[in-house]
Amino acid sequence: MSIHDGVESLTSAASGPLRGAVTLPGDKSISHRAISLGALAEGETTVHHLLEGEDVLRTVAAFRAMGVEIDRDPTGIYRIRGVGLDGLAEPDDVLDMGNSGTAMRLLAGVLASQPFFVILTGDASLRQRPMGRIITPLSRMGARILSRAQGRAPLVIQGTELIPLDYQTPVASAQIKSAILLAALNTAGGCSVEEPEQSRDHTERMLTAFGAEVSREGLRVSVEGWPTLTGQTVWVPGDISSAAFPLVAALLVPGSEIVLEGVGVNPTRTGLLDLLAAMGARVEWLNQREEGGEPIADLLVRHSPLQGITVPPEVIPRAIDEFPIFFVAAALAEGETVLAGAAELRVKESDRIHAMAVGLRAIGAQVTEQPDGMRIIGQPDGLAGGVTVDSFTDHRVAMSLLVAGLRCRAPVTVLRCANIQTSFPAFVAKMTALGTKQSF
Ligand code: S3P
Repeated sequence: MSIHDGVESLTSAASGPLRGAVTLPGDKSISHRAISLGALAEGETTVHHLLEGEDVLRTVAAFRAMGVEIDRDPTGIYRIRGVGLDGLAEPDDVLDMGNSGTAMRLLAGVLASQPFFVILTGDASLRQRPMGRIITPLSRMGARILSRAQGRAPLVIQGTELIPLDYQTPVASAQIKSAILLAALNTAGGCSVEEPEQSRDHTERMLTAFGAEVSREGLRVSVEGWPTLTGQTVWVPGDISSAAFPLVAALLVPGSEIVLEGVGVNPTRTGLLDLLAAMGARVEWLNQREEGGEPIADLLVRHSPLQGITVPPEVIPRAIDEFPIFFVAAALAEGETVLAGAAELRVKESDRIHAMAVGLRAIGAQVTEQPDGMRIIGQPDGLAGGVTVDSFTDHRVAMSLLVAGLRCRAPVTVLRCANIQTSFPAFVAKMTALGTKQSF
């Protein structure tokens, strides 16, 4: 079974144990960066295990529209004929980034210094998300970017020559950091960015692999301008943010034992594993290895009774995409879980604090929404379910509520699930392969 375009609702029901081994789709963050750096490099880049989700395909389409040849062979390997830092061509139409904040923010960084005119737009969710956070630093570099009110997309970019920047970002965000570092590539003198906490570092790792001069001092990272980027072979690891759904499902459903193969375990992404370990989760890291500058492991996950925790604030950026599914784990743990200091969750693909509070409450969980987090009293014996809930068109909210349905006494139907395609097109197929019950 697989989700196809246009499918709006999915139903999940109480499940027997999850068993077996699955691979995960390619990491979304790394996939965007592999296409972008491949396009800006000299020579050919080959990408294995690219995530063929809608978000990444938007980045592929955008670079194709700017004259970059990107081919997919029948086995799913992508070949990008790089055009160099000054080889992109003006697209003849608006670039539509769909649902993808990463695509829009990273591309804005690339385009700020290109000598042409571009309009970036996106779907209703993306057009509500804050772009001022990248417009402000890029404008300080001399970029000419216009937006709708409050920094909302569409963005109009008239590329121009940029000047160096040493920026302290108020929010720990890999998208802000990456937009500046990508703009720095075409800036004599380069740029530095300092963040309050370390966000994911895939851009820095991949820039180094492609030949850029990247240096780090604590939370401050710098890139020199005008490097020669050379095409590479990139192996994209399995996405830990997608692995999170079967992982939490296996922890929650008694008798489960699964292996998630080839998962990226970059330390800037493993916050969820730390939180779950503190709750008592049994997750073993097997076959730890490195591929293309990124650490990888197979994760052996066994059903585990979980205890509520208070989330340490410094873990938040390392688990930022995993809070919807973390809330589900907390709703089925023993005792209270408290998250504070996570207001960023309100500006993701949906307001994830609100969306998850509404959905979890509807299926019988005890949750209290707070301005910057959530309090949850867990019910380890399971939840009521028997309702239809809304995903707010958010892929991770949809998958989280479907996982919650596996521990409900009556089935849970989740509306507006089509955006699961943005990050995890084979979600239903993989969950079904592990033995869960889900249907259209
Ligand atoms: C991402 C960074 C994070 C994350 C997003 C992907 C990236 O966003 O939520 O899903 O690939 O750089 P922020 O930088 O806004 O925290």
